[in-house]
Amino acid sequence: MALAEFDLAIFGGTGDLSMRKLLPAMYSRDRANDLPPNARILCIGRHELSNDAFLQQLDKDARPHISMEIFEPAVWERLCKRIQYVAMDATDAKSYKALVAAMRPDPTVTNVFYLATPPALFSKICRNLSSSGLATPNSRVVLEKPLGRDLASAKQINAEVGKIFSESQIFRIDHYLGKETVQNLLALRFGNVLFEPLWRREWISDVQITIAEELGVGNRMGYYESSGALRDMLQNHLLQLLCIVAMEPPVSITSDAVRDEKLKVLRSLKRFTPVSLAQNVVRGQYRAGHVNGIAVPGYRKEQDADPHSRTETFVAIKTEVDTWRWAGVPFYLRTGKRMADSLAEIVIRFKKIPHSIFTQPNSSFESNCLVIRLQPDEGLHLNLMAKTPGDGMRLKPVELELNFRESFKAPRMEAYERLLLDVLRGQLTLFMRSDELEAAWEWVEPILDYWEQEENEPIPYSAGTWGPAAASALIGRDGLQWREEA
Ligand code: BG6
Repeated sequence: MALAEFDLAIFGGTGDLSMRKLLPAMYSRDRANDLPPNARILCIGRHELSNDAFLQQLDKDARPHISMEIFEPAVWERLCKRIQYVAMDATDAKSYKALVAAMRPDPTVTNVFYLATPPALFSKICRNLSSSGLATPNSRVVLEKPLGRDLASAKQINAEVGKIFSESQIFRIDHYLGKETVQNLLALRFGNVLFEPLWRREWISDVQITIAEELGVGNRMGYYESSGALRDMLQNHLLQLLCIVAMEPPVSITSDAVRDEKLKVLRSLKRFTPVSLAQNVVRGQYRAGHVNGIAVPGYRKEQDADPHSRTETFVAIKTEVDTWRWAGVPFYLRTGKRMADSLAEIVIRFKKIPHSIFTQPNSSFESNCLVIRLQPDEGLHLNLMAKTPGDGMRLKPVELELNFRESFKAPRMEAYERLLLDVLRGQLTLFMRSDELEAAWEWVEPILDYWEQEENEPIPYSAGTWGPAAASALIGRDGLQWREEA
């Protein structure tokens, strides 16, 4: 579907997200000839800068994030022509004159406001967009995470933004939903008959979802210290993945049908009590260690760190989805910085065979296991038992592999490219609805409260490991292991 003409205004247009993700994503779409001829990108920043000076900054800060394989000077030049820098103070209503002057008042042009700013500014910016006449029934607003820091602040953002824009105009981004493999999970579950009959408590023993990063907090200490792994990764990315794994088949792929089903999952997550919290949640913080053979400092010794910080850089949780389909199946969630490897995967482990007819010694029986890999290589692995060649009837696990990069030669889209296109097309399926966001916070909040009251500190773990031993014990208690530790 061809895109209508648009003006995309990025609040926080000089920031990290804009430089690393949004502008390179627009470059790729421009290169694919997806952008209409007169589409424009307005990058908003506080500093007085000439357009030329801003373009020089782009050259330094955004261009290196475009892979050399796809870089074409002519496309870059075309993109730069679309970009206009707008100097204004987003918190000051009078400042919006500059934006009004820069945007096209034409009703056939879609106006998109991308708020890549701290969430504390969301309401104010929306009010200012409204009072300056820029917010119209045709405009769209994109809210970048973090969407609040607890249930109350998320509700407040929803209510304030909701006064200006209707729900169908609000795009709450979780970039994990834009990843190719996440959408492939929908294809796998609902485009095949094979898995659906097995996708339930009768056949699945447990589910593991891991997003592990080798990276530390880098220069994001200011943000991360007030966030931590639970708010930064679990409340959004991991819960969204869980929803896609656990949801009932939606009646269609339309936004509300999918989001209704995800909401039901969030509402069926087992609620924590103080006792179950102590047993089922592990929080950790990295200490100095080695990642890929390189010595790295501990979290409390990072630049600008609080030497007594209690912020978690790791969290592991055991939960359950209390429905007929899933009752009793443990879902283990885990995420952390400075881990042994960078990977994101969902592991669905099936139950053991009910009875073995094979008596030959040396057979190594394993449960069937489906691994959905998001990162670094996107694909599916299915572990099956097979007979080893030769005499006798010895069984051994083998892997069926599907590597998306090799199977589909078509160029891939980064998550932000896909999501920006969806915003411009007005498609909401891959964005969170207000009730989903609130349901996710509602489930997470008892954990935040518990940590707040608790005297204990996060458990230290060495950088370059799989987190505190307590995380292995959490799953070990059920006679299981994290896949990477098996
Ligand atoms: C972001 C978090 O949402 O996701 C970062 O704020 C994290 O802390 C990042 O590094 C991970 O995303 P990806 O796509 O690199 O796995």
